[in-house]
Amino acid sequence: MAGDNGIAVPNDKEFRLFQRMLLDRLGIFLPDQKKALVSHRLWKRLQARQLNCFSDYYRLINQPDEQPELNQVLELLTTNETYFFREPRHFEFLRDNILPGFDARRTLRVWSAASSTGEEPYSLAMLLMDRRAGPWELVASDVNQSVLDKARRGIYRDQRTEQIPEVYRQRFCRKGTGPYEGCLRIVPELRERVRFQQVNLNQALPELGRFDLVFLRNVMIYFDDTTKRDVLNRVARVLQPDGWLFVGHSESLQGIDSEFRALAPAIYQLQGGRRGQH
Ligand SMILES: C[S@@+](CC[C@H](N)C(=O)[O-])C[C@H]1O[C@@H](n2cnc3c(N)ncnc32)[C@H](O)[C@@H]1O
Repeated sequence: MAGDNGIAVPNDKEFRLFQRMLLDRLGIFLPDQKKALVSHRLWKRLQARQLNCFSDYYRLINQPDEQPELNQVLELLTTNETYFFREPRHFEFLRDNILPGFDARRTLRVWSAASSTGEEPYSLAMLLMDRRAGPWELVASDVNQSVLDKARRGIYRDQRTEQIPEVYRQRFCRKGTGPYEGCLRIVPELRERVRFQQVNLNQALPELGRFDLVFLRNVMIYFDDTTKRDVLNRVARVLQPDGWLFVGHSESLQGIDSEFRALAPAIYQLQGGRRGQH
């Protein structure tokens, strides 16, 4: 039923259907206060499908041939906000505390595990290209296919690239022309260094190999405690025994039963890790 502003709001029962779906599929918990968000983000889709009630729309997205519509719903209800060199202390820690001591003969393997539109993995790639003496590999993943497509294209509006240090902008970005005026594109040599892949952290992980570093930033904030614990256990199993885990600064592992110990703000290492013995 449409409210005063013409936008329909899901009733409690309808809201719970979407709440449950997001939790089951992505591990994301939508608190009750997010009813307005569901309404605002999905109302256009209801209109596009000529429906005016959320339970009808819920039935529709659960039909087997409506997978693309379901994907759109999951994308609309998740937050993809990100930017280059977000939380710069993490990049400084990597540059100053990890890279100098890391064996130049070993391949340093890094996973950006909720990479969104690519700003995080490209920031890592710039730093690694600049500072890593030995071989390195970078895997970037997200559950959302459309953010991964954007990430692979590597095209960003100029004002979204302001946090990239000037020397890196010169070296790793090219100015767009014609329809891409006002944009920067990541150079192919850097784009080719990032392997993008769709991964749902809320399910058993595909074969990704072992990592020395996992960036799991600003995604656990949306998970409930059970999901957080399960995701951390999965990540622990793909980390090297001396591997590092980076989480968002507003996220904490406190109170979650996990194998990580705190090293620095929002930086963890597996318990019993062999720091400094690479
Ligand atoms: C706010 S962005 C964080 C981007 C980046 N890590 C950063 O810190 O700037 C959160 C990302 O997590 C992704 N995400 C949400 N649930 C997920 C899940 N179950 N598995 C993998 N990625 C997920 C979303 O699609 C979104 O792109």
